[in-house]
Amino acid sequence: TEAAKPSVIVEDLAPHVALVRIDRPEARNALNAETRAALVEAFQRLGADPDVRVVVLTGTGKAFVAGADIKDMASRTPPDMMARRTHLQWQVIAQFPKPLIAAVNGFALGGGCELAMHADIIIAAESARFGQPEIKIGIMPGAGGTQRLIRAVGKFKAMKLMLTGAVIDAHEADRIGLVTEVVPDAELMERAKALAVEIAGLPPVALAEIKDVALTGEDLPLAAALALERKAFQLLFSTEDQKEGMGAFLDKRSPDFKGR
Ligand code: HXC
Repeated sequence: TEAAKPSVIVEDLAPHVALVRIDRPEARNALNAETRAALVEAFQRLGADPDVRVVVLTGTGKAFVAGADIKDMASRTPPDMMARRTHLQWQVIAQFPKPLIAAVNGFALGGGCELAMHADIIIAAESARFGQPEIKIGIMPGAGGTQRLIRAVGKFKAMKLMLTGAVIDAHEADRIGLVTEVVPDAELMERAKALAVEIAGLPPVALAEIKDVALTGEDLPLAAALALERKAFQLLFSTEDQKEGMGAFLDKRSPDFKGR
């Protein structure tokens, strides 16, 4: 039965690289309570696992994620919506401390587009589609879309998407800066994996500091953000990986980063 089948699958994609696959294709991977909870559980576990350095997030079938589950929301009241406290779940993904690559295989609509925007890098298959169609069902983006989309693509592209609910293809998403790159459908996982493996070979503490400073700093006054960068930069000189990276360069050999 559907209740017994987990809708989020976590597997090893490569050494130090985990794959999180949203696996509810019969509902276009729409996020219901079970799927949201499973995603959160997966990210909490992978965030705490020292062996995992990079995560790739994708969906099964025609969709990455077709949004929040509309069946599940249709008859909700404001107190119901409040009681779900989904912002705490999104926070776990937003604050995931390791590089997160979204491999967008199909529809990334509404909460699905918002989920993709929680990633650090978005690789889109050519058949991927992006949009914030909430307006067409009488609501609005509710998982950070109004803020993350405008920061990603600027006011005038973001407003058109949100105010019309238009769905755009992968190439248009690339043009406006909503994705990192577009690849042929058949090469999506191969490309996401290659990029993940490349990043997994780099020093994890420095990766984590780049992510933290870039994302936290975005919402701070410039002077505070630059101070945060300066402190994080200085802190990295306490890591073995800094010694290893610079030592390897000077010795003309490949570095072997240990994550400490
Ligand atoms: C619940 C959904 C769903 C959704 C698809 N399904 N999207 N169920 N919630 N968001 C279900 C359909 O009801 C259908 O179930 C099955 O998946 C297949 O969908 P089809 O429409 O037949 O598939 P297709 O023709 O391939 O079209 C795919 C699609 C379309 C373009 C993605 O399904 C679609 O437009 N979905 C809704 C997209 C949307 O409005 N998203 C925003 C949601 S609001 P049955 O039982 O009939 O087979 C939102 C708010 C975010 O995300 C707030 C914070 C999270």
